[in-house]
Parts: sequence; structure tokens; C-alpha cells
Amino acid sequence: MTTHIENLASTLKKLPYNRYCVITDKNVYKHYGKFLHKFDLIIKEPGEKLKTLANIEKTAKKLIKLGLDRGSCLIAVGGGVIGDFTGFLASIYMRGIPYIQVPTTLLAMVDSSVGGKTGVNLSLGKNLLGTFYQPVLTLSYPETLQTLSLKELKNGIAESIKHACIGDKSLFGFLEKNHEKILAKDPATLNKLITQSSAIKLKITGKDEHEKGVRMFLNYGHTIGHAIEQASNYELSHGEAISIGIHQVNLFSKSPETKRIENLLKLYDLPTKIPSNLKKQEIAKIIKTDKKKFKGKLRFVTVRKIGSATII
Ligand SMILES: NC(=O)c1ccc[n+]([C@@H]2O[C@H](COP(=O)([O-])OP(=O)(O)OC[C@H]3O[C@@H](n4cnc5c(N)ncnc54)[C@H](O)[C@@H]3O)[C@@H](O)[C@H]2O)c1
Ligand SMILES: [Zn+2]
Repeated sequence: MTTHIENLASTLKKLPYNRYCVITDKNVYKHYGKFLHKFDLIIKEPGEKLKTLANIEKTAKKLIKLGLDRGSCLIAVGGGVIGDFTGFLASIYMRGIPYIQVPTTLLAMVDSSVGGKTGVNLSLGKNLLGTFYQPVLTLSYPETLQTLSLKELKNGIAESIKHACIGDKSLFGFLEKNHEKILAKDPATLNKLITQSSAIKLKITGKDEHEKGVRMFLNYGHTIGHAIEQASNYELSHGEAISIGIHQVNLFSKSPETKRIENLLKLYDLPTKIPSNLKKQEIAKIIKTDKKKFKGKLRFVTVRKIGSATII
């Protein structure tokens, strides 16, 4: 398969759909819009605010006007926001039409475009409405990461570190050895990182699509991390928050790997301490409302040995 986004249209020629509509955001359009003009095109404002039911309804009406029917296909070209939004819309438009993921952030390539979770937010919390709906195809074009900011790159690195901790000791070693090349966006090193890291997510979600068992492992660092992210009023990025979440859960579960994992997070200049301006009581309060509680009990994922996870 080709590896350049300029070949997207020719790659899709082999697929059987009567019509394609790309959903993307303005930032992505600025860099890659020139490769998308063969498709119907809907361009959104960037950012998490897109993920609302009101925007889903507005966009669905646009699809009707464009004439998309059950033989048509949506294409999400962008980060996790565009992917979650487009996937959710595809899952309910005319009771479900196919969609393709073309992730353009590292986080989307290694994480959000794999596993079929889609969704939008409510004012009461993130991703509270959604579906499990698999894309027919995911096409990652790693060269698009060259235009991504370091801050966004690090969000994806944090998820890759999570994947390595819970599922792949050799990826952990690769991340330790290649931090300079990864931060410098060396193409070959990024390709390897994306392949290995997305494979772990694919393996776990393949075993447990609907999050009844092992998919829970993907929440490593996230129960505490989400609470920290929320308590900081989203001033901390998702990657920074889960990096702190990973270290804090390791500390509190007395993981023997705490130091090695902390060192790896630090190689990528990711934080590990709870910022002093955040109140621990506030964080604890948010943790108690975690939507992934089971029979009323909180569950945390920890790593006792690099490459495998445990629920406590
Ligand atoms: N479905 C899942 O399993 C899953 C998993 C993790 C996260 N998510 C969701 O993913 C979302 C976060 O995704 P994200 O981190 O990719 O953020 P994002 O989609 O907001 O993208 C980050 C920023 O980078 C810009 N951008 C994207 N690609 C670019 C490129 N190649 N060059 C330059 N700029 C580019 C975007 O316009 C945006 O401003 C959240 O809504 C989260 O809930 C979903
Ligand atoms: Zn995450």
C-alpha cells in the first residue's frame, strides 16, 4: 500500500462505494486540503468543541443535501476529534454507513483510529454518547506528522508509552533507545513506533471489542490522568495528564517498575508529579465519579512487570 496522502484518492478507487465525503478540520485542510478535492469535503473548526450532538445533526443535514446514501462512505482526515466525530456520525447516519480513518496525529495513528470507539461529549463529561463502530479501513500516512506540533506529538508518545508498559516490552526498549530520533520526528523511527504501538491496541481491542475485560488495560494511567486533566481545567494536555496518571498509579500500587517507567516518561519531558496548584481532594472527588466503575467499585490498572498489566 502507498504511503503518501497525495495518493489517497487513487488508493480508494478499488473500494465499492458510490460517493465519498471527507470530514476534516481547518488545520489539517491547510496542509493537506490539496489532496482532498476529489471528494465531497466538509471542513470543521479544530478542537474538542466539535464533538457535540448539535454538530452531528448539523453535519448529517449537510450529508443529506450532498446526496450521501447508504452506498456512500465517510472519510475522517484528522486527529482523534475528527475521527471520533466522523465515526459516530457514520454509525448513525441512515442507520450506519461505512467510514475510513485517515489519522493525522500520532495519538490518532497509535490510539484513537484503532478499536472502533466513536463518540461525542455532553456538558456533563467527555465521550458520554458513543458507539462501537469499526472503520472499514484505517490509512496512516506518517509523513503528515512532520507538520504536527511537538506538544501534539507528545500526546501520542504518552499513549505509546502506555501501550509499551501494558503490552510490549520490546517497544518499551525501543522508546528508551530512540527518544532523540522520535522527538526529532525521524521518519523511519516514527513508522516503527506507529506500527508497533497501534498493533498493541489492535491486539487488545481485537480480543475485547466491547470493553468487558482486557480492553480495560488501555485505561492504565487514565483513571487518575483524566481526573488531573479535568481538575487542571484542561490546561494540562491529555498526554501530560496521563503521564502523571501512570506515575501516580505506579506509586500507589507500589509497582517494582515505577522508576524505570518514570525515567522513560522523563526522557520525553513528560511530567510525573501532580502540579502543586491542583487540590488532591478535588482530584479524588473526580476519580470517584469515574464512568468505568464496576459494581460500584473503582478499578485501577497497574503494571508490575513491563509488558503486562493487572487490575486492582
Ligand atoms: N476513539 C478512541 O478510542 C479514542 C482514544 C483516544 C482519544 N480519543 C479522542 O481523541 C481526541 C484527541 O485527539 P488528538 O489528540 O488527535 O487531537 P485533535 O484531533 O484535536 O488534533 C490535535 C490538533 O492537531 C491538529 N492537527 C491534526 N493533524 C495535524 C497535522 N498532521 N499537522 C498539523 N496539525 C494537525 C488539529 O487540527 C488539532 O488542532 C479526543 O477527543 C479524545 O476523546 C479517542
Ligand atoms: Zn488517552
